[in-house]
Amino acid sequence: MKKFTAALAAVATVAFGTVSYAQELTVGVSWSNFQEERWKTDEAAIKGALDAAGAKYVSADAQSSASKQLSDVESLIAQGVNAIIILAQDSAAIGPAVQAAADEGIPVVGYDRLIEDPRAFYLTFDNVEVGRMQARAVLAAQPKGNYVMIKGSPTDPNADFLRGGQQEVIQAAVDAGDIKIVAEAYTDGWLPANAQRNMEQILTAQDNKVDAVVASNDGTAGGVVAALTAQGMDGIPVSGQDGDHAALNRVALGTQTVSVWKDARELGKAAGEIAVALAGGAAMADVANAQSWTSPAGTDMTAVFLAPVPVTKDNLSAVVDAGWIAKDKLCQGVSGGPAPCN
Ligand code: GAL
Repeated sequence: MKKFTAALAAVATVAFGTVSYAQELTVGVSWSNFQEERWKTDEAAIKGALDAAGAKYVSADAQSSASKQLSDVESLIAQGVNAIIILAQDSAAIGPAVQAAADEGIPVVGYDRLIEDPRAFYLTFDNVEVGRMQARAVLAAQPKGNYVMIKGSPTDPNADFLRGGQQEVIQAAVDAGDIKIVAEAYTDGWLPANAQRNMEQILTAQDNKVDAVVASNDGTAGGVVAALTAQGMDGIPVSGQDGDHAALNRVALGTQTVSVWKDARELGKAAGEIAVALAGGAAMADVANAQSWTSPAGTDMTAVFLAPVPVTKDNLSAVVDAGWIAKDKLCQGVSGGPAPCN
């Protein structure tokens, strides 16, 4: 019924050449863990796109609880949303939320993280490529030695997409005996404190004989660098992703090798636009740049993949030029560093 009403609104919009009917659309966003730095940027971009379309924004934060996320989605549905964007906390637990939305004819956008259900539109960056970029930068800085792999949350499919991309890049060096993976660990909830604790334990177990760390995002990289610093080992190659401000500063300082930057402004904008289009009755396949994609488990999905950019000391200016971070923040505490911090 809601879909029908929304479709009518969209038809009316086209027929009368006015956006006023679109104002009746409300898009709900279900966040998994809103306290993490990056999601504020995503939210601002989603809101911007909804504003531009005359649609309303409502949201809920699951605070890292998969069960709270299910009741959050129920409550968004009860509020009468016309589309739902879901950043899933736990891919294995989110199914009933998609079902509940489908029962009401409400379209779902799986935001950033795969929701293994063809009824959920999949919008993300190419996460396998993010993993490759992380490993490429670390490998270039440290082609041999003992590697530690700090993975993401075991309930987030991105963790294994990243890990797969990382392995592709280092496999030949592993086979040649140049690289030895001495330890790897998932990071529950992607929490920096968990990454730090894992890294501390690994350093102890390995007697500090670690030459490089492939960490799967900037939050975990922060935990890793804290553990390394405590042992006087900061400065060994470490990867990350998200373009978190603290991480970009570490790249400028030389304590992190790469932050693969996924411009959350682009992702959020696309999500807002796709949600409005689907709420208006557009078919998934008609979304701009949509492609068919089969998940590793064999589910046929409709997806949009955005392109990530690795940020290292060699192209730090890119994030300042793009208005992502102010130069003084990027370069805080850096003297004679890479451009633009010199
Ligand atoms: C992942 C996302 C990463 C990172 C992480 C932390 O799903 O792809 O960019 O932000 O979540 O929550």
